[in-house]
Amino acid sequence: MSNYHIKHLEEYFQVYRKSVRNPEDFWEEVAEEHFVWRKKWDSVLDWDFSKPEIKWFDGAQLNITENCIDRHLHIRGDKTAILFEPNDPNEEAEHITYRQLHERVCKFANVLKDNGIQKGDRVVIYLPMIPELAISVLACARIGAVHSVVFAGFSSTALATRINDCEAKMVLTSDGSYRGKKVIDLKGIVDEALEQCPVVESVLVAKRTNTEIEMKEGRDKWLQPLLESAYADYTPEVMEAEDPLFILYTSGSTGRPKGMLHTTAGYMVYTAYTFKNVFQYREDDVYWCTADIGWITGHSYIVYGPLANGATTVMFEGVPSYPDFGRFWEIVQKHKITQFYTAPTAIRALAKENLDFVTKYDLSSLKVLGTVGEPINEEAWHWYNDHVGEKKCPIVDTWWQTETGGILISPIPFSTPTKPTYATLPMPGIQPALMDENGKEILGNQVDGRLCVKFPWPSIARSIWGDHQRYKDTYFSAFEGKYFTGDGALRDEVGYYRITGRVDDVIIVSGHNLGTAPIEDAINEHPAVAESAIVGFPHDIKGNALYGYVILKETGESRDRDNLKKEINQMITEHIGPIAKLDKIQFVPGLPKTRSGKIMRRILRKIASKETSNLGDTSTLLNPEVVEEIIKESL
Ligand code: PRX
Repeated sequence: MSNYHIKHLEEYFQVYRKSVRNPEDFWEEVAEEHFVWRKKWDSVLDWDFSKPEIKWFDGAQLNITENCIDRHLHIRGDKTAILFEPNDPNEEAEHITYRQLHERVCKFANVLKDNGIQKGDRVVIYLPMIPELAISVLACARIGAVHSVVFAGFSSTALATRINDCEAKMVLTSDGSYRGKKVIDLKGIVDEALEQCPVVESVLVAKRTNTEIEMKEGRDKWLQPLLESAYADYTPEVMEAEDPLFILYTSGSTGRPKGMLHTTAGYMVYTAYTFKNVFQYREDDVYWCTADIGWITGHSYIVYGPLANGATTVMFEGVPSYPDFGRFWEIVQKHKITQFYTAPTAIRALAKENLDFVTKYDLSSLKVLGTVGEPINEEAWHWYNDHVGEKKCPIVDTWWQTETGGILISPIPFSTPTKPTYATLPMPGIQPALMDENGKEILGNQVDGRLCVKFPWPSIARSIWGDHQRYKDTYFSAFEGKYFTGDGALRDEVGYYRITGRVDDVIIVSGHNLGTAPIEDAINEHPAVAESAIVGFPHDIKGNALYGYVILKETGESRDRDNLKKEINQMITEHIGPIAKLDKIQFVPGLPKTRSGKIMRRILRKIASKETSNLGDTSTLLNPEVVEEIIKESL
């Protein structure tokens, strides 16, 4: 029996039982057999969810890039590691072999070092999906610097908040980025952000769009000339198992984003293990995940998981609609993609278009399809299954989070029978629990509750950067002794899990995790706004869209409403990014509040979803009359 590559359902159950009965032996075996270590661990696991403190493979020493690059050189040096598909289909794709990746990462590592970056320093990476993004992530890991990639669709304010929170010394960016027909002035956004970031000493700029940009004397340097003259080897820094690998920001229930801290050894072991199993990866496969490396999906399943397995991983710079809605399928045909991993939002958007966009391409190379980031509805699941997978490819509906580092619940293709809209069964080592509102675990099947995890797994985030108390409060305080995910789930009659959505103030829009608080904070900055509340409502393509209820100050009352709406969305774009824009804005005289002053979002959600026939108990409201007024004017 191989722990590492599960091949049928019986084997899954055997491996799962073993992993739960004796997690330490289980993960030790995986770590022993499939990775290179400079020094083995003193203990496999030390944990205490009440502190919370979690350590995997403590005492071990390693460098994750040795596992992702160096050890492959003698067996697959000439194999493509990263296959870069540019935004413009007429520009040639770039095949970067493991040997070339080694050279480029080493050069980049030397450039970072020569520009003052030391082990432990934070480097913020604000780059589009070009090879330099993956290479710079790996270069940071090679020298022991902590990377924090900020998705290059975030605004300058959001970027500045993240830079300041992790006190980054350096920012890596490019002159611009391509998105379909558009060229975006990334460097301009960085310049604006840095006006508020005194901690940043240097900015290295990759040339991509040849946009004319300003270079600030003494701070900004072009990357390419530095790389050209850099030495092509770099001895990897020896890291401790629990040394920080990266910080990745995610939304929270207050205005400040949470810098989830991931460490080295456990993250490596878990992402590599899950990549191999969830995608049933084989040596000659060409794997493509369409996410951006700015999200956790890209970290774990474009960069680290695939490369730790010596895989060929595709990086796509563009968008699914450019030059037309057949782009994804054109790429699948062109590169003979075997595993394709995307978000339900993308599937829904493409399913709306003419089927010819799919059928005109040869998709027969595909073996496994995946989804991530939000619940997939039945219709989208069937469209994906029928037209993309041609009913031959299992769909892995993978449930996980920035905080979990890797996939926790997912079918294993060819082993777990799939069921539309169900993430199905926990990965080996994952012990889910459904909890009721009183903090009791709900046992048995055909039940639903709040989704927790009872036991640590190797890639769980270890902290929130600079705020361990918030880490404890957010994830370990709702249910004693358990990690609380913030999601609701149900368990069907055979024990399959279906994620039903967030039970907190996070809304998933187009697969992006958005907190209501930061958006409300942005709106409230508008001089005409007194107060606001955001809720999600169902949307055909995005899964959820945002509905904003806004109370105006007296000064705003006389203003043109359409202009105000535009300005409010502009405010959000500036503070967060266009992904957080509101689909609907309703100006209201008040917000339904409890006697303790808490906004009753449940009611607002129902109004936004046009489910006003049963609003539930409104007797605890301080101002029940406002509800009728809101309903009357609802959009
Ligand atoms: O609500 C769940 C939803 O996305 C949240 C995590 O968002 P983020 O940290 O941005 O990570 C997304 C990529 C891993 C979860 O709490 N979610 C993620 N995957 C699924 C999902 N909801 C339903 N089904 C999924 N497969």
